Amino acid sequence: MRILVCPPDHFDVAYVINPWMEGQIGRVDRARAERQWNALMEQVARRAELLEVTPAPDCPDMCFTANAGLVADGRALPARFRNPERALEEAPFTRWFEGAGFEVVRPGEDDPFEGEGDALFQPGEALLWAGYGVRSALETHTALGRAFGVEVVSLRLVDPRFYHLDTCFAPLPEGRLLYYPAAFDERSQRAIERRVPANRRIAVDDADAMGFACNALRVGETIFMNRASGKLVRALADFGFEAKALPVDEFLKAGGGVKCLSLLLDQAPYPRIQPAPTSPICSESVELKGHLMDSGGLNRALDIVTDAGGSFRVTSISLAERKDQESRAELRIVAPDEDRLEGVLGALLSLGAQRKSPVRTARIERVTQAGVAPDGFYSTTIYPTEIRIDGAWIPVERQRMDAVVVTGTGTAPWARCALFRDLRPGDAVVCGIDGVRVRIPEARESGEFAFMNASVSSERRVETAVKAIAWEMRRLRERGGKVVVVAGPVVVHTGGARALASLVAAGYVQALLTGNALPVHDIELDLYGTSLGVDLSRGRPVHEGHRNHLMAINRVRAAGGIRPAVESGLVRGGIFYECVRREVPFVLAGSIRDDGPLPDTLMDLVEAQAAYARAIEGAEMILMLSSMLHAIGTGNMTPAGVRVICVDISPAVVTKLADRGSLESVGIVTDVGLFLNLLAQNLVD
Ligand code: ARG
Repeated sequence: MRILVCPPDHFDVAYVINPWMEGQIGRVDRARAERQWNALMEQVARRAELLEVTPAPDCPDMCFTANAGLVADGRALPARFRNPERALEEAPFTRWFEGAGFEVVRPGEDDPFEGEGDALFQPGEALLWAGYGVRSALETHTALGRAFGVEVVSLRLVDPRFYHLDTCFAPLPEGRLLYYPAAFDERSQRAIERRVPANRRIAVDDADAMGFACNALRVGETIFMNRASGKLVRALADFGFEAKALPVDEFLKAGGGVKCLSLLLDQAPYPRIQPAPTSPICSESVELKGHLMDSGGLNRALDIVTDAGGSFRVTSISLAERKDQESRAELRIVAPDEDRLEGVLGALLSLGAQRKSPVRTARIERVTQAGVAPDGFYSTTIYPTEIRIDGAWIPVERQRMDAVVVTGTGTAPWARCALFRDLRPGDAVVCGIDGVRVRIPEARESGEFAFMNASVSSERRVETAVKAIAWEMRRLRERGGKVVVVAGPVVVHTGGARALASLVAAGYVQALLTGNALPVHDIELDLYGTSLGVDLSRGRPVHEGHRNHLMAINRVRAAGGIRPAVESGLVRGGIFYECVRREVPFVLAGSIRDDGPLPDTLMDLVEAQAAYARAIEGAEMILMLSSMLHAIGTGNMTPAGVRVICVDISPAVVTKLADRGSLESVGIVTDVGLFLNLLAQNLVD
C-alpha cells in the first residue's frame, strides 16, 4: 500500500482558514513539528510504502497531502481549494500525480473539492462518503461518483471546527465506522445510521473528537491517530484494531492531524458499479425579482438554500441602481436529493421566487379521510397565491397561512384555503409545489415604522409611531375602512380602558376580538372601580377586592350577557358599553382559565376561530394589544396586505407577531396603557 506524504519543511500557520488556526499565526515550533512528523512516518513506513512530494516554499499547508486530491483505481481527481491561500498547492500536487503515472481527471466545473479530506471510501465497497457544507461543494459529488463508479453519500458538515470530512469520520473495513455525530446535520446522521448498523459504529465523545481521534490513518490492522481515550482504544480493540496514538499537536495548530498528513494512493479494490449509479443530487433554477437588497430578500433566499443542506450558484444577477428599481437574480439550486430540493423550492416560492422550469399543472390528490389532508399537501402562506388549473392561473380565495388549498371546477375553476378540519372525503387538495405561484406584494414604504421591530421602543419613538398609526386610522375612518382590535386584559390593568372605550365611541374600531377576561375586567371597573380587585385610580388592592371580579361575572350572567347588561342599565360605561352602543361586534374566544365564563364567551374554540375569521374579513388594520394567544390566533388567519400593529411590553411577543413574514407588520415594545392613552390623545381629545 502506497501513501503520499509531504515533509513539513515549510509548515507554518501563516493565515487563518479554519477555527484551529485562530491565534496560532507564527506559533508553530517547526523543529517540534518535524520531530512529530518523523516519528509518525517512521511507524507508518513499517507497514506501508511512503512516497514524497517536494514541499513548496510558499505552501505552509502542503504537508496535508490528504487534500491533494482523491486517488483510486490509478486515477487521480486533483483538488480545487476553496481558499486562495491553498490554491497554490494545486499545481505541484497535480504535477506529482502526472509524474507518478496517475490518470488525472478534472472534475467539470470550478467548484471547490478538497480531495480525500472530504471524500472517503468505505473500504472494499463501492461506496464513497463525501462531505460538503464547509469546504468541498455539493456540486462536485456527482462527478466523484461518475469518476470512480461508486455510489456517493453526501454528508453535510455543520461545525466549522470539523471542516473536512476526515476530521470527524473514518470508515473502517467490514462496514465499520469511527465518527463524531455532532459534526453532521440531522439528515446526514440519519443517513449514516441507515447504512452502518449501530454495532459497527463507534461514535466518539467530544474529548476524542477535539483530540482529532477520527482523523485516523489505518494501515492494515493498525490505526494511527493523534490521541485516543482508553475507552476508544478498547472500542477499536473490540473491532480487531490496534490504536496507536502518536501526538501531532504541532499540526493541530493548523487544524490537521494524522490522516490529513497522508493520502492513500492504492485504495482497497472495490467492485466498481457499471454504469455508475445515478446520483440523488438534483438541481433547479429559480428567478427572484424585487427589492432584493433593501428588503434582504436575496439573503433570506440564500440562507434557506444553505440551511436545507443545499448549495447555490448565482447564475445571473442585475442589481438595481436606484432605490425605485427592482433587482433580479437567477439562482441554480443544488440539493442532496429531490425531497430537499422540493423543500427549498417551496420555501423560496413563499419568498416570491419563480421556477425557471416549464410551468406545470398543480398536482391534485383527493381527501380519503374526513379532516385529514393527503401527506404531500402544499401548505399556504399569508401571500396571494395562484394555482395552475386547466392551463390557467387561478387565484386562491380566503388566503391565510397554515392551510391547504382545495380546488374545484364548477362553472369555472376555483381554489380556496381550507383547514384540515374542513376537509371532506373527495376534496381535491393541491400537493407539492408544481403549479403553485406566490405573489409577494410590494413592500409598503414603512417610514416611521421601519425601526420599531422588536427592540424596546423609547418614549420618543412610541410617540412617533403613534402619530403615524393615528394618521392611518383617521384616513381609514374617513373612507369607511375597517380596523380590528385584538386586546388582552392588560389593557384594563395598565389604565388603557378609558382610552380604548373612547376610540370605540369615536368610530375608530370596527370589531373587537378578545377572550373572557377583558370584558370581565372592563365591567368590574365600571361597576366597582377595580380591576381584579385593584383600585385603578390608586393602584392599590381594596379590601375583599377579588370578590369584585367574581361579582361582575355573576351580575352579567344574571343579566344574560353583555348586551342585556348594557341595555338594562347595569353597565354604564367602558369598552364594552361603547361596543354595544355603537354596534361594534365583539368576539370572545374562551380558554381553560376563564372564570365564569360570561354568557358571550365562546367555549367551543373551533367555533371561536371561525367567528374571529369572519370578524377580520376585509380588515385593513389590526391592532394587537397585549394579548399573546388571541393575537397569534388572529395573525394565523390574516392574509398579507393587512397592516398589523403589535403592542406588547414583552419583546418576545412582539417579535413573534411582527415577524410572521408580513411586510406590513410592525411591533412596538411599550406599555399598552401608555400606548392607548397616546393614541386617544391623538385621535379623540
Ligand atoms: N490548515 C489546513 C486547512 O485548513 C489543514 C488541512 C487539514 N487537512 C485535512 N484533511 N483535514 O486546509
